[in-house]
Amino acid sequence: MSAFPTDFASAIRSAKNPYPVIRGDANRLRWFPRLIRPDVRATALQLLETHLTPHLRLARRPVDPALIADMTQNYTEALPKSLRNHTAMLNDPRSAASKAAKAIGLTAFLTSTSLKDFAERVSGYPLSQTPGLQVICYHPGDYVGPHNDHHPEEAHLRDGYVDLQITLTNDDVAHQSLLYEHNGFFNEVVDIAIPSGVSVSHLPFWHQVTPLQARRGREATARRWLLLASFVRR
Ligand SMILES: [Fe+2]
Repeated sequence: MSAFPTDFASAIRSAKNPYPVIRGDANRLRWFPRLIRPDVRATALQLLETHLTPHLRLARRPVDPALIADMTQNYTEALPKSLRNHTAMLNDPRSAASKAAKAIGLTAFLTSTSLKDFAERVSGYPLSQTPGLQVICYHPGDYVGPHNDHHPEEAHLRDGYVDLQITLTNDDVAHQSLLYEHNGFFNEVVDIAIPSGVSVSHLPFWHQVTPLQARRGREATARRWLLLASFVRR
């Protein structure tokens, strides 16, 4: 196989969703561990590594020391979103990253009808036809700090939107977790260092991704790839 499968349905093992749909439920995330077929995972990792790596750019937003230096009152700390990872947006068809994604079948895969159907079935919301697409690659130490992905200034996003995220982790990764808020406490934990998984989320809600940790001696090659399809609710 030298390209992504043409549709999501043929890339997954049979998925039984044991949970209620997200719509109307307090828990806004569903996680399907190891959903991607192992042969698809292996090929996808190879394709991403070879064809997308050259198009990744470093996204870097460090913690500003002034957040502490300028504090004048106890217990008033607030931490804006801080992050470091490697990413490529795939929404401009003229970009080199989008052309590479198209050439390996990634764009067709992420815009397949069966992927949107899955996101609709799990979320319980009718969704826009065309998702926004992004690829993120986590290297050792890469993370995203607490944030909520609320976009109150965008009319089409301010009432919430649905993300389907596919995680593909290579064998050199030891640890990485997704933490999120549920019922007022920031204490739900998902192990995302497993070989593959699919999440469907109804944003916004508070979440963070802990720093990727490599297996000992595998720091140069440990990678977790994240394929994102973001759908506006119809
Ligand atoms: Fe996020």
